[in-house]
Amino acid sequence: MAKMEVKTSLLDDMIGVGDMVLLEPLNEDSFINNLKKRFDHNEVYTYIGSVVISINPYRSLPIYTPEKVEEYRNRNFYELSPHIFALSDEAYRSLRDQDKDQCILITGESGAGKTEASKLVMSYVAAVCGKGAEVNQVKEQLLQSNPVLEAFGNAKTVRNDNSSRFGKYMDIEFDFKGDPLGGVISNYLLEKSRVVKQPRGERNFHIFYQILSGASEEFLCKLKLERDFSRYNYLGLDSARVNGVDDASNFRTVRNAMQIVGFMDHETQSVFEVVAAVLKLGNIEFKPESRANGLDESKIKDKNELKEICELTGIDQSVLERAFSFRTVEAKQEKVSTTLNVAQAYYARDALAKNLYSRLFSWLVTRINESIKAQTKVRKKVMGVLDIYGFEIFEDNSFEQFIINYCNEKLQQIFIELTLKEEQEEYIREGIEWTHIEYFNNAIICDLIENNQTGILAMLDEECLRPGTVTDDTFLEKLNQVCATHQHFESRMSKCSRFLNDTSLPHSCFRIQHYAGKVMYQVEGFVDKNNDLLYRDLSQAMWKANHSLIKALFPEGNPAKINLKRPPTAGSQFKASVATLMKNLQTKNPNYIRCIKPNDKKAAHVFNEALVCHQIRYLGLLENVRVRRAGYAFRQPYEPCLERYKMLCKQTWPHWRGPARAGVEVLFNELGIPEEEFSFGRSKIFIRNPRTLFKLEDLRKQRLEDLATLIGKIYRGWKCRTRFLLMKKCQIIIASWYRRYSQQQKYQKIKSSAITVQSYIRGWKARKLLRELKHLKRCNEAATVIAAYWHGTQARRELRRLKDEARNKHAIAVIWAFWLGYKVRREYRKFFRANAGRKIYEFTLQRLMQKYFLEMKNKMPSLSPIDKNWPARPYLFLDSTHKELKRIFHLWRCKKYRDQFTDQQKLIYEEKLEASELFKDKKALYPASVGQPFQGAYLEISENPKYKKLKDAVDEKIIIAEVVNKINRANGKAASRIFLLTKNNVLLADQKSGTIKSEVPLGDVTKVSMSSQNDGFFAVHLKEGSEAASKGDFLLSSDHLIEMATKLYRTTLSQTKQKLNIEISDEFLVQFKQDKVCVKFIQGSQKNGNIPTCKRKNNRLLEVAVP
Ligand SMILES: Nc1ncnc2c1ncn2[C@@H]1O[C@H](COP(=O)(O)OP(=O)(O)OP(=O)(O)O)[C@@H](O)[C@H]1O
Ligand SMILES: [Mg+2]
Repeated sequence: MAKMEVKTSLLDDMIGVGDMVLLEPLNEDSFINNLKKRFDHNEVYTYIGSVVISINPYRSLPIYTPEKVEEYRNRNFYELSPHIFALSDEAYRSLRDQDKDQCILITGESGAGKTEASKLVMSYVAAVCGKGAEVNQVKEQLLQSNPVLEAFGNAKTVRNDNSSRFGKYMDIEFDFKGDPLGGVISNYLLEKSRVVKQPRGERNFHIFYQILSGASEEFLCKLKLERDFSRYNYLGLDSARVNGVDDASNFRTVRNAMQIVGFMDHETQSVFEVVAAVLKLGNIEFKPESRANGLDESKIKDKNELKEICELTGIDQSVLERAFSFRTVEAKQEKVSTTLNVAQAYYARDALAKNLYSRLFSWLVTRINESIKAQTKVRKKVMGVLDIYGFEIFEDNSFEQFIINYCNEKLQQIFIELTLKEEQEEYIREGIEWTHIEYFNNAIICDLIENNQTGILAMLDEECLRPGTVTDDTFLEKLNQVCATHQHFESRMSKCSRFLNDTSLPHSCFRIQHYAGKVMYQVEGFVDKNNDLLYRDLSQAMWKANHSLIKALFPEGNPAKINLKRPPTAGSQFKASVATLMKNLQTKNPNYIRCIKPNDKKAAHVFNEALVCHQIRYLGLLENVRVRRAGYAFRQPYEPCLERYKMLCKQTWPHWRGPARAGVEVLFNELGIPEEEFSFGRSKIFIRNPRTLFKLEDLRKQRLEDLATLIGKIYRGWKCRTRFLLMKKCQIIIASWYRRYSQQQKYQKIKSSAITVQSYIRGWKARKLLRELKHLKRCNEAATVIAAYWHGTQARRELRRLKDEARNKHAIAVIWAFWLGYKVRREYRKFFRANAGRKIYEFTLQRLMQKYFLEMKNKMPSLSPIDKNWPARPYLFLDSTHKELKRIFHLWRCKKYRDQFTDQQKLIYEEKLEASELFKDKKALYPASVGQPFQGAYLEISENPKYKKLKDAVDEKIIIAEVVNKINRANGKAASRIFLLTKNNVLLADQKSGTIKSEVPLGDVTKVSMSSQNDGFFAVHLKEGSEAASKGDFLLSSDHLIEMATKLYRTTLSQTKQKLNIEISDEFLVQFKQDKVCVKFIQGSQKNGNIPTCKRKNNRLLEVAVP
């Protein structure tokens, strides 16, 4: 929903009247009452048109919060209740949007709140203008320049604890977007006499107290200061501490602000050194010392302080000491040196202190300006804020007050001029006739002071420059002569006899009737202060200081730049700067804040009517209202006016379609407002009397009440109706839901009843059908049964008939057969009896044999020679045939099997057959040899390069080449040997190298012995006396024993045609060299697993344990 725009106005919830222009009746009492009423309600701001009257509340009000800033931001001036923010916003927006340079003139007497107002304006502008790091820095520097200048330029006076003792005008510069770029501060005449002397109940400038309270011990020591205020003559003691002011914390604030503004550390240090020097100057005291010429010469009492000052400022002590004792006057190239008496020395000291301080202050302003000056050269928009010392009336008013009040006169002058001018211009702009209004113009007072010939300032200058004895009295005399006839000048001694008897006016005084009241000035000191004399010796001493800041403060002390011309007097300087300021202000659009002080006690909630009345009078506020109301009290652009009052007329309510002006015309005609009461300007409606406006407001209020009632009525109606409609809608929904629910329930009930009924009916129907079907089925079955029975009966009957028929037929056939048989048998009986028996027997036998062979053919076993199957015998008489047939068949299939063998295989089988003949059932190792392939050459001698030598040595065909273990005769241990059998020889060779160890011709082998057990040991017995037999028989062992023995046997047989003797015995003798050793085989030892072990038992026995 779009946010509803609420148009408010100054006129809403008004306490008294927010704009004095609307005050009715307009007189002093009503004016003050209105202010008081508003003040009592915490409304400290009131308008006179666009001028803001501000009454110092003397307490913090919650009306300067960021929320308030937001509230006033971008709102029309008259839209909200009067506020300084409204004026600031108006000024800032016309600067930003309409490109008009602005100035904000804040006036009022001392303590009325000008400085506070200027700070509020600055902080508001800072809050609403652009943001960003750079902009924020500029803002921060501009804002932080205030505490620095206040510390050095403000002091506690009887009127104000933080009274500005200088005038300040600050130009804030903005770019086209309204972002701040920088600023320029101008300062006006610091009240420097305060440095050396303060009136009773007042203080010196804040900074002195701040340093002494807030600086660290170390820093104080550096500045050669002590914390005790009473140590310093320049510090008035009676009100050194101010309630609610924390000098120490303010000192920290000032230092921090100096840092933010951009003071370098050494600059800050120098500044405080100068301040310390000023403070210490006050402690220098002089004593008279008589000289030979009878004149008194001043001498410094205690040089300690002087020494410290010189150390602090880098001034040569003797130079300064001399400057306090002598004065050199230069005239026409002649230098005349005169001694100073004590009074002159004190004068010189104070003049130096005042000058040092005031020049330091100006230097500070220049330095701040350097920091805050805009960094760009683009065209700038300017907002000037003027916070100048307020109009002052003290008990003793001197030159300073005169100057201050003159400045205030000038401001009042410009206020009158600009307000009237603006008013006039507006009438012309809007095309309204202008009627002249009477008001007091203070131009005449300004003229009394500043007139170039007869003005008081001109007179004072004249006196100061005049040769001869010049005193304040001569000056007063002159005034008495020249100004005597002036309406606003009063003096006892003037030629005008009016005041001759006025005892309230002392002889040494003159009185001026300022716009703000009569002020009596003590003439004493006017000449001196105007001259502002600092002895040249002192300025030269300062210039010589080894301290860059002090040196810079006294450029005239440079002997190279000696200027014999008198410097311009303080009065003329001030007059010139005020003139420049006025010129500057005239080029800008003015905005006024007129500050009023509600009481003299700095107290909250106290409204002293007499005091306020006095201020209102001299500020000419009533005249201001009158001028504003000359002709027309109230004006407003057509659009807001129509917006505010359109509800008062049917044509314009709720919307007016045409131009706003026409709408306002219709509205005013309709309301019957007399024509003389208003005028139509170009863009604004002008209302002559506040009465008319209030009438409009009353009508509006009443109408608003009616409208509110109407709106309330309609709203209530709408609310009720909406509620009713909502309830109706809800009721319909609920009812429909309920109906639906109850119908669902009902339906469920009906549905289940229907299902029950249905199921009953269906059951009944089904049962009925079942009954019918059963009946039908029974009928069918009965029929079938009957039919079956019937068919059965029929069939049986037919069967019986057929059987009878067949039986009859068969009986016939049988009978016939019997008959035939009988006939045949009778025919052949004789023949049959002779041959038939044998033939039947043979035939039967033949048939049986035939059947036997045919069956055998089908039951033949496989052709495998090892297949043991053979069909069972069918007839006992065929038993021997059957066995024979089995044998023949086996032989036949063995032959068939053998026919498939190659020659090689045949040879092996021959060997195997030989082996079986030799060893079967004799040696337990035999069965294990049946599966062995009888390969013979297990070692590939020819292939293995290791055995090349062996191969070369044996050129016969190798029958056996196998590794055997040769049993050592000595210990029964085995060693590997290659056993070779060739056609003619048995050879034993080393297994590793292949070298032949023994070679025995087959003829020399006589016998081979072995056990009957499952071991591979065998002994090869050699022929006694043969060459080989010298080493003895071989006792060997091999897994292939059976194969080796068989081959040895066969080879020996084929070579020697003699059968080799193979002895199988568990005990045999072996010839070992000369001895015969018995080798005995015993069964059963499992020591070595499955391997037979051989052990030498004694000389005659070698025992082989066979597992
Ligand atoms: N708007 C305000 N809200 C609260 N207190 C205020 C306000 N304006 C002024 N004061 C109080 O009044 C005192 C005096 O105000 P301020 O210093 O602004 O007066 P001034 O007009 O500048 O006086 P002078 O001419 O002596 O410099 C402030 O120190 C502050 O305590
Ligand atoms: Mg001030």
